[in-house]
Amino acid sequence: MAKTIIVSNRLPISLRHRNGRFEFKPSAGGLATGLGSIYKSGENIWIGWPGNTVEDPEQRAEIILELHDLKMAPVFLTREDVEQFYEGFSNETLWPAFHYFTQYMTYNPDHWEAYVRVNQKFCDAILKKADADDTIWVHDYQLLLLPQMLREVLPNATIAFFQHIPFPSYEIIRMIPWRKQLLEGVCGADLIGFHTYDDMRHFLSAVGRITGLSSESGYIQAENRIINVDSFPMGIDYDKFAKQAKSRKTQRIVQDFRKQVGDQKLIITIDRLDYSKGIPQRLHAFTKLLQDHKELHGKVSMIMVVVPSRDKVQSYKELREEIDLLVGRINSEYSTLNWVPVHYFYRSFPFEELSAFYNMSDIALVTPLRDGMNLVCKEYVASRTDQTGVLILSEMAGASKELQDAVLVNPNNQQGVVDAIYDALTMDPKEQKERIASLQSSLKKYDIFQWVKVFMDRIEHVKEKQAELT
Ligand code: UDP
Ligand code: G6P
Repeated sequence: MAKTIIVSNRLPISLRHRNGRFEFKPSAGGLATGLGSIYKSGENIWIGWPGNTVEDPEQRAEIILELHDLKMAPVFLTREDVEQFYEGFSNETLWPAFHYFTQYMTYNPDHWEAYVRVNQKFCDAILKKADADDTIWVHDYQLLLLPQMLREVLPNATIAFFQHIPFPSYEIIRMIPWRKQLLEGVCGADLIGFHTYDDMRHFLSAVGRITGLSSESGYIQAENRIINVDSFPMGIDYDKFAKQAKSRKTQRIVQDFRKQVGDQKLIITIDRLDYSKGIPQRLHAFTKLLQDHKELHGKVSMIMVVVPSRDKVQSYKELREEIDLLVGRINSEYSTLNWVPVHYFYRSFPFEELSAFYNMSDIALVTPLRDGMNLVCKEYVASRTDQTGVLILSEMAGASKELQDAVLVNPNNQQGVVDAIYDALTMDPKEQKERIASLQSSLKKYDIFQWVKVFMDRIEHVKEKQAELT
């Protein structure tokens, strides 16, 4: 039976050292949580990095066996791979470039070499598992060269690529010395997907200008193949979040948390530690709110969950220090014996507790400076079982294109964000309900299962179209 091989740099679970042993922990990040609900069907498998370096052959063998039972296969990275491919080229060149943070970009030929080498490592691992009629679905910016590497060995294979982060304007892409190889790498796929129409347009324009391949109506004409490029906004497992929010377990946690924080209004923010998420800017806006509205002191608190991420990369280290400083400053200035303005957690939480945070918070403040999609805002909406609550969402998140009934803000406009929070705190329940109900109905319809179906159907369509043309 034909299977789908999902490939991403990070597997949906990550290995952690604890007391001299390894244990598995769910991975954070939209790619892992989003696809986590669907990869288990049929004979499908997921190939990727288990998120830690393991040198010992015996330990590796043990991990391979354990992952096999979970329908996953590991690609082991060496310490050098992690430094140069993952921290280096992926997260010091591509991530900042694709999120328009050009000031953080580095251009290191050793990192580029490692990127090529590790993409090849993934290619070899896939070739060991792939049969001729399988669909190979490659995910995200860490593996841009992989589709073409696979195509060279399997010229007739069905290969798809999806990018979970933004695709920037040609003006940014052209800054990367290896831009042509990167674009040609992705063009090894039959179908290339992005979250938004703008990402897709930027990609087509860059391909035209950098590789010279022409395109029409979303089809690139390659040497002997057509390649379809389109936008497929990713959804969430809506029912999972809605059900969890209603569950007895989550409701017990809500009651427990409520007892501890009191009856003030709560603003939830949840992100990986990342400069693209606009966390300091959000804290500045919250400070301004407290300066401008003394009547809110003691009446509103922010619950800020920051999940550790890429903590060896310099820009991330600096960001952590900046956030620590800002939270310290706000709390030391405004706290009273029975009120803390910002409850700050630098760690990840289990699903039931995240669900409780979403369910008990009056406002979700999701203000990235740039975000491919952002699933947190969708998870908040799905968790509002009583249809109260307000989602404040950055225009710079891919999700804002779909979630027009959120309160949309420009995260660079501090006063705009302050006003939006104030309006949300005072919004009448009828308006809250109208907005949330409308958001819920579209998220329910376009959930993660629908997303996968539409994408898979399109792959089939592209393959048929290719066959007609040959
Ligand atoms: N998340 C998690 N553990 C946590 C906090 C968040 O697994 O402690 C998840 C969250 O539920 C969401 C994902 O991490 O599904 C973040 O995805 P998003 O698309 O918002 O941002 P990304 O991290 O992919 O940039
Ligand atoms: C984003 C990216 C994913 C990545 C995740 C977590 O969601 O699109 O590709 O896996 O962040 O980042 P990490 O570097 O920990 O894998």
